[in-house]
Amino acid sequence: MPENRPYILIVDDEPKIRDILQEILQNEGYVTCMAGNGREALSLFDSESIDLVILDLVMPDMSGMDVLRLLAKRAPSVPVIIISAHGNIPKAVEATQLGAVEFLEKPVDTKELIACIKEQLAETQKQQTFDEEIENNFLRYGFIGGSILLQDVFRTIDQSASTSIRVLITGATGTGKELAAKAIHRLSQRYDKPFIKVNCAAIPEELIESELFGHKKGSFTGAFADKQGRFALAHKGTLFLDEVADMSPMTQAKVLRALEDGEIQAVGSTSIKQVDVRVITATNRNLPRMVKEGAFREDLFYRLNVVNLHLPILEKRKEDISYLARHFLSRYCEDFNSPLKQITKRGMTHLIQKKWPGNIRQLRNFIEKLVVMSREEIIDVQDILKIEGREVLEEDLEAVLTLRDARQRFEKDFILSKLIAHGWKVSDVAMELDVERTALYRKLKELDIPVRSNKPSG
Ligand SMILES: Nc1ncnc2c1ncn2[C@@H]1O[C@H](COP(=O)(O)OP(=O)(O)OP(=O)(O)O)[C@@H](O)[C@H]1O
Ligand SMILES: [Mg+2]
Repeated sequence: MPENRPYILIVDDEPKIRDILQEILQNEGYVTCMAGNGREALSLFDSESIDLVILDLVMPDMSGMDVLRLLAKRAPSVPVIIISAHGNIPKAVEATQLGAVEFLEKPVDTKELIACIKEQLAETQKQQTFDEEIENNFLRYGFIGGSILLQDVFRTIDQSASTSIRVLITGATGTGKELAAKAIHRLSQRYDKPFIKVNCAAIPEELIESELFGHKKGSFTGAFADKQGRFALAHKGTLFLDEVADMSPMTQAKVLRALEDGEIQAVGSTSIKQVDVRVITATNRNLPRMVKEGAFREDLFYRLNVVNLHLPILEKRKEDISYLARHFLSRYCEDFNSPLKQITKRGMTHLIQKKWPGNIRQLRNFIEKLVVMSREEIIDVQDILKIEGREVLEEDLEAVLTLRDARQRFEKDFILSKLIAHGWKVSDVAMELDVERTALYRKLKELDIPVRSNKPSG
């Protein structure tokens, strides 16, 4: 077993080339091992802890490309440098897509090779440090990611966790506002006391007062017993008021009073109770604008927004996407008892470039679908595109209100695609769908699909 020096596996079917490479690399201070064919290479790769592979492309039995494919599956993070006397651009492109980091032509230029190895090993080192950072961030905050903007978020979480200061968390849907609220609570001195969440948008106006402050038995119809409010339940802990912009003016006034003097009064009760509650709020609306428009109380806004923690949209922290995708992938593979899948480089590039208006939640749901729907162990662009196709249909269907509408929408989509596939030959489509031609014509009329003359295909 080599000490701390990098360990390089040389794979070439020509003993002479192996020996030359070995000498060059050992002179540079690297530790090496050698394989004369793919099978040997894979078994060495499995038994040793290899830092980098130098791989010949044309070998008898198993080709370098096949070896590369298997290596990428086993350990995609170990860099592979291809060396080949038969270099051509399509081969180089294919190798790169399979994860090779460099493609060098034989006879290999020693300087170039050494420079390439140094660069790759430095890159791996940097990556490992970064991976550790991501892992630590996740353990501490529950967030995956290490982008500059997310580091700002972590800093604010740390700063506000050390006191009971009020925090208003802002950001678009699915950016992690609730996750941030939980992180602040967990890292605060109140961590072992309750974290109580109230979704202000989900509770009907006439119930919210009793929900927040509790009620006495008989104080209104339906109040069959005394009930504790969420403020009281959160005593000594944290109360998270989610979607705070949705509180009515009346509720805003009551919450303001509770915040000002820490006193609450249950509905129907004459006594006043003192509570010690840290309040964290969140909204995806523009509260300052609502204040200007008179839709949210200014005095309450200032009391809630002592610290503002803003969660940036995913578009602004694209560096985090690959980590998030891999995190959700391994989580859902585990949930669905499926072997761990992987996303190819090309697939990952696609995910990074894709628009995510629903932010991390949308990415999470997307990966879940990917795990359920794709049978491949290695997920490539085309598997992702298939799921995107479904997404569009689902989005489309979400806007639809009734089952009848949904059925019509689907039927129209379906029949249209069949008509296009059959060059608008209605009789052919009728045959394939096993319906009478006249019935199909009737359906077309009902769905408002125009009947075209047959188009020449192509
Ligand atoms: N950086 C992250 N790492 C891992 N999971 C995350 C991250 N950010 C968000 N999530 C997950 O994404 C989902 C959405 O996050 P969350 O509910 O906190 O968003 P939100 O901002 O409150 O959204 P909304 O405005 O729609 O309520 C949750 O499952 C959350 O755990
Ligand atoms: Mg939320």
